[in-house]
Amino acid sequence: MTLPGLSATPLYLDCDTGVDDSLALAYLLASPEADLVGVGSVSGNIDARQGAVNTLDLLALAGRPDVPVAVGAHDPLAGSYDGGAPSVHGRNGVGDVALPPSGREVAGESAVELLLRLSHEHSGALRVVAVGPLTNLALALRADPTLPARVRDLTIMGGAALHPGNVTPVAEANIAKDPEAAAEVLAADWDVTLVPLDVTMADVLEESDRKALLEAGTALAPWLGEVLDLYFGFHVDTLGRRCSALHDPLAAAIATGGVTPTLAPRVPVVVDATAGPGRGQTVCDLRGRYAGYPDVPGARTRVVLATDAPLTPHLMERLLTL
Ligand code: BDR
Ligand code: CA
Repeated sequence: MTLPGLSATPLYLDCDTGVDDSLALAYLLASPEADLVGVGSVSGNIDARQGAVNTLDLLALAGRPDVPVAVGAHDPLAGSYDGGAPSVHGRNGVGDVALPPSGREVAGESAVELLLRLSHEHSGALRVVAVGPLTNLALALRADPTLPARVRDLTIMGGAALHPGNVTPVAEANIAKDPEAAAEVLAADWDVTLVPLDVTMADVLEESDRKALLEAGTALAPWLGEVLDLYFGFHVDTLGRRCSALHDPLAAAIATGGVTPTLAPRVPVVVDATAGPGRGQTVCDLRGRYAGYPDVPGARTRVVLATDAPLTPHLMERLLTL
């Protein structure tokens, strides 16, 4: 959303839509700080093509048929698409809810082509937010290693710094689904903000929030309330009650300034892409813990460990406008 007199930042979203991806997309559409100029899909929660269809349907409900949506990588850099996460996000990625079809077609270009084109059109200004596996970004870097010089910053939902993983004892889903891509992306020369499970597990939507969405009387919010139903059920096992973690919307809010990191040291981060039990781990050098987490000279990745305010009220305020 752009407001008269305010210059919003051009932003490309790379996602695997996905229940919490849907919340991140909606948050960005409701945010005057962001001008969503394109969305690329990637296989993760669901295959890349269905993720793009979900994105088109959500954009149509939000009254934003102008935003281009491009299909990205179906398979990770090594291996094949694993079939997604139907027990978490539903067989269609949006909680098995049949959204009204947008009637729109995906863009004629791939997600990599869209990202590279936007990086030229908005050179130096483009913000990139990645909330799925990092396959598209790695392929874009391979196609054009000068990409980081044209990107203002990159915010990634992914990894676990001092927190357990969510798909293995040490690996978070977005990194685990394509560790080779994550390793290449985190080794490239751009300003990265990593938003790991350490902070994305801190806030949730409760049933009262879902009810408010269902009863919003607006075009998109009630559908988000429906889409959240299955995801709420999944969290009974992990969080002990029906509720929703807010992984992807937190990354979107940090990227656009709606939530501010209060502890986010710049440290070396490498991704374990070996075949052992550490595969998919984000190995963050946080040995400065007992010295107040000083930045490590030369490091380009800041790892968010704490934020200034809970996301939930801010997110709900924005979602209820759509
Ligand atoms: C991440 O994995 C996906 O299931 C979510 O959409 C989020 O991006 C959390 O680990
Ligand atoms: Ca996601």
